[in-house]
Amino acid sequence: MKLLDGKLVADQIKSEIAAEVKDHFKDKGLEPPHLAAVLVGEDPASQTYVAAKEKACREVGFTSSVYRYPENITREKLLEVVDFLNADDEINGFIVQLPLPAQINEHEIIERIDPAKDVDGFHPVNIGKMVLNLPCYLPATPFGIITLLERYNIETAGKNIVVLGRSHIVGTPVSILLSRKSNPGNATVTLCHSFSKDIHAITAQADILIVAMGKEGFVKADMVKQDAVVVDVGVHRVPSVDTKSGFRLKGDVDFERVSRKCSYITPVPGGVGPMTIVSLLRNTLRAAKKEVI
Ligand code: GUN
Repeated sequence: MKLLDGKLVADQIKSEIAAEVKDHFKDKGLEPPHLAAVLVGEDPASQTYVAAKEKACREVGFTSSVYRYPENITREKLLEVVDFLNADDEINGFIVQLPLPAQINEHEIIERIDPAKDVDGFHPVNIGKMVLNLPCYLPATPFGIITLLERYNIETAGKNIVVLGRSHIVGTPVSILLSRKSNPGNATVTLCHSFSKDIHAITAQADILIVAMGKEGFVKADMVKQDAVVVDVGVHRVPSVDTKSGFRLKGDVDFERVSRKCSYITPVPGGVGPMTIVSLLRNTLRAAKKEVI
């Protein structure tokens, strides 16, 4: 078994981005790329993600800013914030961290984002362009997953790829990306969800298994074909006596047993997570270079 080391690849890509920031912006006297994030409420996972995005921006020389609002923000105020960020020429791209509080309709907020600044790739215009294989921002986690497969020279053409979970952020877009006529892509993709029958029989056929269902340790060794490639998108905090913080991160895959059977596997942490963040940086770089829309 070999690790798909997302941390290592993400660090390489960050160095490439930092070099571009220097060559294309700083050395020419131009402002570096600027990513903004909107963070509503106190959700601990969202705070961790946004802090990680800010740190990554600092590491590559981007400017970053965070717009924080209380849980009880109104729909009108949040739409105003999006309008402000759309209009601000100093901000190249921005994200609205999800989930949003219950009183806010996520779709309405996302649809208000200028697609040219939608570096999360969540706007229906960007998703539509992704489906049609047109230039667009790819959602960060799917983009990170295909980049990781690419950098490890894992062939996807003609392979059976099974995706577990059909979220709008991961499962649905990654299944589309990998079935597109492109490289990576050209795979036969099966998307499983809560209504799928006999998931074990389906996953056992997978050359590449991508797990994004949000159930800790769901994928066991008997569900995985010998020498399959396994990509684990799950992130769960579980109590641990071995760490200072009192918890550690685990994925949707039973890593200990599954790793003995597969050819490649992503660790949690250090697999898909760092690739997601670096993909957001890549989208922001493209936004700043006006490469997309
Ligand atoms: N919540 C979980 N993942 C993401 C992401 O990639 N972007 C945003 N905006 N919110 C998220």
